[in-house]
Amino acid sequence: MVLNGLNMTHAKLSSLMARGTEFFGCETAILCGAMSWVSERHLVAAISNAGGFGVIACGAMTPELLDAEIVATKALTDKPFGVNLITMHPLLFDLIDVCAKHDVGHVVLAGGLPPKGSIEAIKAKGAKLICFAPALALAKKLVRSGVDALVVEGMEAGGHIGPVATSVLAQEILPEMGSQVPVFVAGGIGRGEAIAAYLEMGAAGVQLGTRFACASESIAHPAFKKAFFRASARDAVASVQIDPRLPVIPVRALKNAGTEAFTAKQREVANLLDSGAVDMMEAQLQIEHYWAGALRKAVIDGDVEGGSLMAGQSVGMVTKEEPVADIIAQLMAQAADALERRVA
Ligand SMILES: Cc1cc2nc3c(=O)[nH]c(=O)nc-3n(C[C@H](O)[C@H](O)[C@H](O)COP(=O)(O)O)c2cc1C
Repeated sequence: MVLNGLNMTHAKLSSLMARGTEFFGCETAILCGAMSWVSERHLVAAISNAGGFGVIACGAMTPELLDAEIVATKALTDKPFGVNLITMHPLLFDLIDVCAKHDVGHVVLAGGLPPKGSIEAIKAKGAKLICFAPALALAKKLVRSGVDALVVEGMEAGGHIGPVATSVLAQEILPEMGSQVPVFVAGGIGRGEAIAAYLEMGAAGVQLGTRFACASESIAHPAFKKAFFRASARDAVASVQIDPRLPVIPVRALKNAGTEAFTAKQREVANLLDSGAVDMMEAQLQIEHYWAGALRKAVIDGDVEGGSLMAGQSVGMVTKEEPVADIIAQLMAQAADALERRVA
């Protein structure tokens, strides 16, 4: 068959995405990264139905709640989707069992290195395991331990972030790891041109969060969505650690009164740590519970001043509510056009 220019670039895009689409069993290698409170049945099913790969954010859910969410998602889509589990969840192994019970094919572990036994437990039931690699050395270690694919997420992303930019992590990790396992690049991606670039650098696909948070199918409160539409890249700022004794993972969110409240929360927890009322583990858990509650306030209750508006720097490219299928179609068209320009 003779391909014309446009078909050739779509063919090129499909071939660059082939490892990613094969890995997830979907049509486009675009994942919607799990977003606590946002990535529930409706958004996850919409992403998978539109040819992407949706991932349920388990967050602090109990095993019973996760069970119900998986069942409800399956009722809305017959396409594959994954589940994101947080490593520090006290019932992690029960959550893994719930995923296995429902034959969830892909589990994403977030929030640190996989605890002892978790990799084996996830893979024993046949699921593929995806982990975040915040540095090359850790990427190598994760692959040696049996992880099937990696997400490389830079500090432009929304939510909890590391210190290094996506562009730098991609340059460090893709050339070494891209041929060993599928690597998905995340953080700061708002348009298809960036997707094309990361695919050409050796990524198997990409993960976006912010761009999908305000899709029509997202249950996020209208006030939360409005705040996103109004914001520009510079409004999505990283939280600041105020006490060197209490290491907190920075969180990128739109600046509001909640940003100040987090400073007060850190002071309160640092005092508890000083007085011996809590140990470091408990102190860090309290910080994480704070974020979960603050995000719920913004996403579900629409409290855009007191809650946490977690958002990445790509928020400036989110300007209106659109169906997931339209967002994916735009991203794919932009990526294909970018590749076509290279060919010309
Ligand atoms: C509102 C929000 C909540 C998030 N919650 C989680 C989460 O619960 N678990 C997780 O692994 N990542 C979480 N993330 C990160 C996303 O999964 C994704 O990796 C990130 O949004 C990608 O960067 P981008 O926002 O620049 O597209 C969250 C991101 C946002 C914007």
